[in-house]
This record gives sequence, C-alpha cells and structure tokens, in this order.
Amino acid sequence: MANKKLKRTGLSQELCDRLGRHHIHTCQDLFCLSLLELMKVTGQSYQNVQRLLQTVSKSCAPRMQTAYDMRKRQVNDPILAFLPTNLDSLDKVLYGGVACGALTEVTGPSGCGKTQFCILMSLLATLPSCIGGLNGNVVFIDTESTFSAERLVEMATHRFPEYFDTEEKILSMTSRIHLYRELTCEDVLKRIESLEEEIISKKVKLVIVDSVASVVRKEFDTQLQGNLTKRSNLLAREASLLKYLAEEFSIPVILTNQITTRLSRNAPRIDLVSPADDLSLSEDYCGKITFGSIFCVFLHHPKFWSCSSRRELTGHLKREQQT
Ligand SMILES: Nc1ncnc2c1ncn2[C@@H]1O[C@H](COP(=O)(O)OP(=O)(O)OP(=O)(O)O)[C@@H](O)[C@H]1O
Ligand SMILES: [Mg+2]
Repeated sequence: MANKKLKRTGLSQELCDRLGRHHIHTCQDLFCLSLLELMKVTGQSYQNVQRLLQTVSKSCAPRMQTAYDMRKRQVNDPILAFLPTNLDSLDKVLYGGVACGALTEVTGPSGCGKTQFCILMSLLATLPSCIGGLNGNVVFIDTESTFSAERLVEMATHRFPEYFDTEEKILSMTSRIHLYRELTCEDVLKRIESLEEEIISKKVKLVIVDSVASVVRKEFDTQLQGNLTKRSNLLAREASLLKYLAEEFSIPVILTNQITTRLSRNAPRIDLVSPADDLSLSEDYCGKITFGSIFCVFLHHPKFWSCSSRRELTGHLKREQQT
C-alpha cells in the first residue's frame, strides 16, 4: 500500500508537483523523510507537515475488513473473487480460478505451457462477465517475445465459437490486450512502476508478467559478488509493487517463472528465480508458504495447455495457502 502514488491520496496537484521535483512520488518516498526534511521540501509548518503525514497514512493504510465481509463478498459475487480458467479440473483445484487481489505464480519447466496459459487467461479476462470473464483490459508484459496474437485468436475462435462469431468481436477482444515487450530488468521495473495509472485509465482487470525470471537470469550472474543481493532487491521491489496493484484494484496478477533446476523434497533449490522465493514466501517444492498471498501453480506436462480442446487436468497442481 505504501507504493500508492501521492497523486491518489488527496494531496493538491501543486504539492504533488513540488514533491515530484524532489523525486518523491509514492507514500513510501514521503515516509522515508524526517519531519524536518518534509518541512524543507514542502515549505510548510511543523503542524501542517504532521497533518500531511496523517492524510497520506490514512489514505494508504490497508482498509480493515472482517472475515465475514470477505466471505460474504466471495459468496455473493464469486465473479469478483476469481477469474475462472475455463478448465474445469483446474478451476476445481483452485476453488474457482485465479484469485483476484492476489499474485499467482505459474511455475514449471520450459515448454510446459506457461505462456499458453497466460494467453488463455488474457483472452478470458476480456470476455463479458456473463460468460465468466472480467469484461476488462489486460496488460501483458512479455519479456521473452513469445506472445502470439495468432494463437490468441485461435484460442478465442476454438473455445468460444458462439461468442466470437464476427470479425468485430475478435477485433474488440484483441485491442483490449495491451502487450509490452520489455527485454531488460530496468524496463520491466519501469513498466511495473507505471502500471497504476494505466490500470485506472484503461480499466485493466488482469496483469500478466511472462516471465519474471528470464531477464533477471540474463542480467545477474549470481556467481559474481553482490549480484544475488541486487537480484533479490529487484525481485522484492517488483513483487511488492505487483502485490500492491493486485490488492488495491482487486485484480488477479499472474507471473510465470521457469524452473531450471530439478526439484525434490530433499534436494536444495539452486536457481529458482522468483519473487516468492526472494520474499521468502515459499520454502520448497513441497513446503508451505509462510507469508503473503502468492499462490503457486506447478505445471509439469508439456502438452497441457497447448491444445485448446483438451480439458482434463494432466498437470500437477499445487496451491499452498497462508498458514
Ligand atoms: N500456436 C500453438 N498451437 C498449438 N500449440 C502450441 C502453440 N504454440 C506453442 N504450443 C505448444 O505449447 C507448448 C508450451 O509452450 P509455451 O511456450 O507455453 O511453454 P512455456 O512453459 O512458456 O515455456 P518457456 O518456459 O520456455 O517459456 C509447446 O511445447 C507447444 O507444444
Ligand atoms: Mg513461455
């Protein structure tokens, strides 16, 4: 929540511009300053600065809700709680689909269908709610240049032939998926940092990052001293921004992450690059998530998502919840 932009906290445009000139854009940036520094930057009195801090704190503090409220919302409006994957077995395992307001990390070896799954989910998010969609736009951050518009249209026309019966509907669906090819860590981070405005202006209902790991692996050789810390800091920053966006806008955020190391209960994990990993959200392949709201979906079967007519669950799925 501290990643919230100051512009959205009710401060005047003039004050936001003034703070912006000192590179203070988010609530977190503001909280890092002492009262004295804030007085200097804003040119305001001690009392006014205290009031300012109170306003910003109130605006970015997580809203209190009871378990009853959460449960009621889920029961009354399951559409708001999950984005169904349209794969019956998978939806059953996930209790309704990919959770809104949380990060979902899809992990698995190369070729198991992570990108195909993301393309499918981006299609589903654009569909009207009466047929299980979120009726929204999608931001798809593609770090491997593997997104295929042809495949998207193929999935749409094969899975929903009754709905996509005209060229206009296909056009409208494809124009709602905003694809960003970001090929460096810096560009991925910049894109994630700019998503808040985009989610509001474009009414985005799903964010996908495919994949979080590939650019990081390319740029950070962990054998070099200091690189592991830098990599962890970058992933932690990305994860906290994405978690904030998911929670603030109650939308699902899907990340993919390729597993390059064979995992087993006893074997050490050597190179599973993951925000979940770096935030210590997960322990090991069979372990329990210790904190946070990242759900992991492990895909193992190479042809699982590739064929749009197949529906049986052939992958091995795992969803661990907060303990
Ligand atoms: N246009 C397509 N039509 C049908 N099947 C496809 C198509 N493109 C890819 N596939 C199938 O989907 C499988 C999974 O590919 P995908 O790119 O989703 O894997 P991935 O898990 O994202 O791999 P990586 O980790 O290397 O990115 C491929 O092995 C291929 O058989
Ligand atoms: Mg892929």
